[in-house]
Amino acid sequence: MKKTHKINTQIAEHFNWGTHCDGWFLANNPNLCILQEKMPAGTMEEKHYHEKTWQFFFIISGTATMEIDNVQHLLGALDGIEVQPQVPHKIVNNTNQDLVFIVVSTPNHKLDRVNVGNHTQEKQIEIKSLMDCKEHIPQLAELWYEEISRHWAPNASIEKAKQKLNEHLNDNKTPMALVALQNKKPIGMACLRENDGIRPGISPWLGSLVVHPKHRGQAIGEMLIDAIKSQAKALNYPVLYLLAFDPTIPNWYTRLGWQFIGTDELFGHPVAVMSISL
Ligand SMILES: CC(C)(COP(=O)(O)OP(=O)(O)OC[C@H]1O[C@@H](n2cnc3c(N)ncnc32)[C@H](O)[C@@H]1OP(=O)(O)O)[C@@H](O)C(=O)NCCC(=O)NCCS
Repeated sequence: MKKTHKINTQIAEHFNWGTHCDGWFLANNPNLCILQEKMPAGTMEEKHYHEKTWQFFFIISGTATMEIDNVQHLLGALDGIEVQPQVPHKIVNNTNQDLVFIVVSTPNHKLDRVNVGNHTQEKQIEIKSLMDCKEHIPQLAELWYEEISRHWAPNASIEKAKQKLNEHLNDNKTPMALVALQNKKPIGMACLRENDGIRPGISPWLGSLVVHPKHRGQAIGEMLIDAIKSQAKALNYPVLYLLAFDPTIPNWYTRLGWQFIGTDELFGHPVAVMSISL
């Protein structure tokens, strides 16, 4: 009989995967694999499924966005979720902190993995805090001005957008901004703010969500929203709010799980107000 001994990441067999992600084999036999894994901020695995393996993911620290059969689940510390065989899934760390979790796979998932491919993965979309890539503020200010503020805000300018973005250089508190980068170039952003111009009694707000016109329709907007939701959740907010000037866009937010909670007015324009539970 095999002798029992203590196991931890100091002594377990280690491997690297993805972009600077770590894995340790806590148990590894033909019937069972138990891995502890660490994913740094802004990393994701490729979407895949297992033919026969049943899995259970259990979060130790950080926040995971677990996509299972195209449905996203936000998991915090001590949350767990199972994944049935043949169901496509991927785990994403959209936050600014490390994500540490355990994956139990039975039978052992070795050689039982089929990658499904994912256009955002292939194109290497990364979500980073603006704090960690402030050199992109000029391009992001231009994008924000062109696609949002010049249409809706009075006296908007690229200079004002730059100043405002410089106020968003925070990691663990509002206001913060997250940037979507493709091959290291900024192609979108979203902000988390205490207030976004209306209803001072409620917070926080998803604001300034914008994706460069050339890169739309590839779920980058959705990824940015998920990343902002993870940040708000990590800051212990139970609900996130947004306001929308464009009258057609609430339909899309509704499809992503947001609820219409009323109308208001900002800069003389009617706006839809929406919320989502975290
Ligand atoms: C809204 C925006 C961020 C979406 O970015 P994206 O990366 O294309 O988003 P996704 O790929 O995740 O989702 C695209 C979906 O949004 C829908 N959508 C985007 N803008 C829309 C609008 N104005 N009205 C209705 N639906 C819209 C698209 O129809 C598409 O739907 P589909 O999935 O059925 O094809 C992007 O269109 C944008 O930057 N728009 C200008 C700025 C803006 O309006 N920001 C929102 C402020 S509230």
